[in-house]
Amino acid sequence: MLKLAVFVSGRGSNLRAVHAAIEDGRLDARIVLVLSSRDDAAALTWCAAQNIPTASLQGVSGQDLERTMLSHLESAGAGCIVLAGFMKRIPSAVVQRFTGRILNIHPALLPSFGGKGMYGHHVHEAVLAAGVRVSGATVHMVDEEYDRGPIVLQRCVPVMDDDSSETLAARVLEVEHALLPEALSLLAEGRLELRGGRVYIKK
Ligand code: GRF
Repeated sequence: MLKLAVFVSGRGSNLRAVHAAIEDGRLDARIVLVLSSRDDAAALTWCAAQNIPTASLQGVSGQDLERTMLSHLESAGAGCIVLAGFMKRIPSAVVQRFTGRILNIHPALLPSFGGKGMYGHHVHEAVLAAGVRVSGATVHMVDEEYDRGPIVLQRCVPVMDDDSSETLAARVLEVEHALLPEALSLLAEGRLELRGGRVYIKK
């Protein structure tokens, strides 16, 4: 069983999707910790009602960030990390400790529309401005660069002529909620193989 730490900064709909997949048996995992970058993340209120252990990293930075993260992860006994809308960079000591066991969900088809500044509505506005006909969601392994690690799963959605960034975001979010538990299942089943900078999915 995967012992999951979920990192959040906001509303936590992907966290709830992961939790739902665990509850209905699609994902063999337990959420041992939810770590938030902010004290006021809505996700934390939801966790309190579910009795899920939480911690906040608000006001923690630099060397302290690395130390604090590692100590929370260790005391929770976390075996892997999911970034579900987490707005801080992961310190390299954490990336190294959890290589191949940190997944991030991004609301576009990487490597397009990712990197610094590409979060929230900015992503969907950039997709609309580019005039591409498809967007989607990407789950990837995390390395030290924003949105650059090896891709695990991707799924497309169409971009419609009359889309606003809100309507596109909603279509992508629905796909995210299915894709993230699927990727975590593959990880839980030991089916993700990282080789030469690429992820292979074992049969
Ligand atoms: C999602 O769109 C995710 O792809 C991105 O941040 C958003 C988080 O939403 N990284 P939520 O907090 O899971 O609702």
